[in-house]
Amino acid sequence: MEFTPVAHLERRLRGLTIGHKIHFLECTDSTNTVALSLAREGASEGEVVITDRQLKGRGRLAGRRWQSPPGRNLYMSVILRPPLPPSRAASLTLVAGVSVAEALDRYCPDRVELKWPNDVLIEGKKVCGILTEMMTRGKEIECVVVGIGVNILMKRDEFDPEFRDKATSLLEASDHPPDRRQVTEEIIRKLDHWYGIFLRDGFRPVRERWLHFASLLGRHVTVENLNSRERGVVAGIDEEGALLLRGDDGRVVSVLSGDVSPS
Ligand code: BTN
Repeated sequence: MEFTPVAHLERRLRGLTIGHKIHFLECTDSTNTVALSLAREGASEGEVVITDRQLKGRGRLAGRRWQSPPGRNLYMSVILRPPLPPSRAASLTLVAGVSVAEALDRYCPDRVELKWPNDVLIEGKKVCGILTEMMTRGKEIECVVVGIGVNILMKRDEFDPEFRDKATSLLEASDHPPDRRQVTEEIIRKLDHWYGIFLRDGFRPVRERWLHFASLLGRHVTVENLNSRERGVVAGIDEEGALLLRGDDGRVVSVLSGDVSPS
């Protein structure tokens, strides 16, 4: 059974770019994979893929999976076609982060945080992950797929043991049982709002809002990549969304990708 009757949701979102067309699948490997292939076939900006269950939900880092049981959560991918060079695509992960943080803040006021680059946390535990993937054509973005997984109704003992102490859900973190349809609609509305601002006014207003929710500001962290490791104090993000780290020598470096942990 669809957790979100598509025609109804499309009607409620009428007039918005994001969500004007929604593809609902009972079960699929990964909504990002479906959205990328729809985009390849010419799907338009704002089309959304939602499923109730993923068999191969993908995380950001190679080999990481996203736990995706049925009847519990939101697994959604949004097709965007921003008229921008590929170097600007990473900002869209932060646009999505701000959108999800604002939507979830209603359920857990003042307890939602953003961890660079793609995690939404409630009291230090991950409630949402964002996976942004891109197709390019020459020097242009052909499409960006923003995949959003939100743990909504998962109970603590339903998380795999490896995630149990690091992940949470809206149900676990808020006083009222959340409604999946409502959370889905609110996230899409926020995404439409912040994506519009990003296209019109650039990253600056998104950056300000992102910093409002930022975790680890002023904290000493390690940022690990496959072949490198940077250490420093989190000083913010720059005007493109890269992480700014102040080293012991006072110099600030910008980091484009990596896994951040307090050190
Ligand atoms: C991460 O935190 O590592 C990113 C997780 C992203 C999960 C979402 S669920 C919907 C979309 N489809 C996927 O396969 N992954 C993303």
